[in-house]
Amino acid sequence: MSPVTEGTARVEEVLRDLYGIRPETVLRPEERKKVPALVGLVHRLKKLGGDPLVVDAAAGRAPAGLVAARLLGWSRLVVIERDEERARSAQRAAASLADTQVDVRVGAVEDLALWPGRPEVVLALHACGPASDAVVDVALALRPEHLFLVPCCTAHSVRASPGAMALAEHLGVPTQPAVRRRFVQAIVDTERTLRLEAGGYQVSVGPLVPSTVTPHNLVWQARHVGSLRRQQRAQERLNQLFQDLPSHRSPTATTARVQADPEGYQSLLSKMNARPSS
Ligand SMILES: C[S@@+](CC[C@H](N)C(=O)[O-])C[C@H]1O[C@@H](n2cnc3c(N)ncnc32)[C@H](O)[C@@H]1O
Repeated sequence: MSPVTEGTARVEEVLRDLYGIRPETVLRPEERKKVPALVGLVHRLKKLGGDPLVVDAAAGRAPAGLVAARLLGWSRLVVIERDEERARSAQRAAASLADTQVDVRVGAVEDLALWPGRPEVVLALHACGPASDAVVDVALALRPEHLFLVPCCTAHSVRASPGAMALAEHLGVPTQPAVRRRFVQAIVDTERTLRLEAGGYQVSVGPLVPSTVTPHNLVWQARHVGSLRRQQRAQERLNQLFQDLPSHRSPTATTARVQADPEGYQSLLSKMNARPSS
């Protein structure tokens, strides 16, 4: 058995145990798709060692935090999820972790009061739309040593989306969704990366799983190092990102146009978010 297959089998076994899925029951497609991402995440987290205070943010049923806690022997995990039903499911699953104190907090990741003061590791697996931006903001405020962020879909409410759309029009990027999607996504990714770097993080971005598993396959792995020169350079690039836009194409003007013609822009965005057919 290769290490990856072995990891997959073990993660699947832990998932089944946590959520009470019998061995003879086939995992649902979304659960099956989650397994390789969990294997990849646990592999990266294992390298940190120790017993950090971990937050699983936009946690859903908290598969990331709970599976990693079980496999890596963490003793403290905070779960933040705004959907009550999913939070309850996380709470039920947590009951089977005898050696981990799991604290499930129901609410929005934007609410700093839900966070422990000094988390050491923050996980956000498939944090949808603006939740990824909020996790970046919280990381900049609380400065956990490590952040593992896997963003999900890009809605208009994503921080850099209006700016990216405005930039696309300013530069004459074609409106074909497949072309625009890549452009807008690249700008959204750029803004998040620079924001983290400007806040003192050393950031690597790479695939957590192959893009055939999910198009939302990249992980932002960030470590707080606080290098002043690097921070300044990132801040300068961040300032430059939208600065050449004429005022009628500014991110604010784009937001106003979206509000005036919600169908046009929103349908373009939803086409951009649609999974490529092959
Ligand atoms: C795509 S799911 C991923 C869940 C889990 N991390 C996983 O990988 O299975 C995104 C989750 O984030 C939650 N969520 C979205 N925005 C949030 C916010 N602002 N604060 C807290 N939870 C949020 C949703 O309710 C949903 O459960």
